[in-house]
Amino acid sequence: MPFNQQWAQNAAVLVFVVSARSFVRPGTTEPVPARSHSFDAGAAWANLALQATKLGWHAHGMGGFDGEKARTELKVPDDYEVEIAVALGRRGDKSLLPESFHKGETPSGRRPLAETVFEGAFPAA
Ligand SMILES: Cc1cc2nc3c(=O)[nH]c(=O)nc-3n(C[C@H](O)[C@H](O)[C@H](O)COP(=O)(O)O)c2cc1C
Repeated sequence: MPFNQQWAQNAAVLVFVVSARSFVRPGTTEPVPARSHSFDAGAAWANLALQATKLGWHAHGMGGFDGEKARTELKVPDDYEVEIAVALGRRGDKSLLPESFHKGETPSGRRPLAETVFEGAFPAA
C-alpha cells in the first residue's frame, strides 16, 4: 500500500508470511483443515521478530499490502493464506523517513492488562 511504501521501500528484505489451510496427519494420506493455521503463523512471525531483534536487525509486520497481488506475483497456491508482510533489515536513520513518520519513532505506551485479559465469559463492554 502507498502508506507502507513510504517507509518499507528501503528494507533489505520484504518477507511474506503464508500459512497452510490444511495438513496431512502423520499416518494418514488425506489433508484435513488446519483450524489454527493463522495462529501458528502468528507464532512463527513473533519468533522471527524476536530473533531479528536479538541479532541486531529489525522486523516490522504490516497488514497493509495488496494480498491478491502478493498471491499472484508469488504464485501462492489456493490452499495457503497470505497472512502478513514483514519488512526486515537494519534500522535506518529517522531522517530517511518522511517528516510525518518522525513522531511515531518512539516507544508507544501499553494497554493495561486488565483491558486485554479477563476471567470467564466476555465482558459486556
Ligand atoms: C494486524 C497488524 C497489522 C499491521 N499493519 C501495519 C501496516 O500495514 N503498516 C505499518 O506501518 N504497521 C503495521 N502494523 C504495526 C503497528 O502499527 C505497530 O507499529 C506495531 O504493532 C508495533 O507497535 P507497538 O510497539 O506500538 O505495539 C500492524 C500491526 C498489526 C498487529
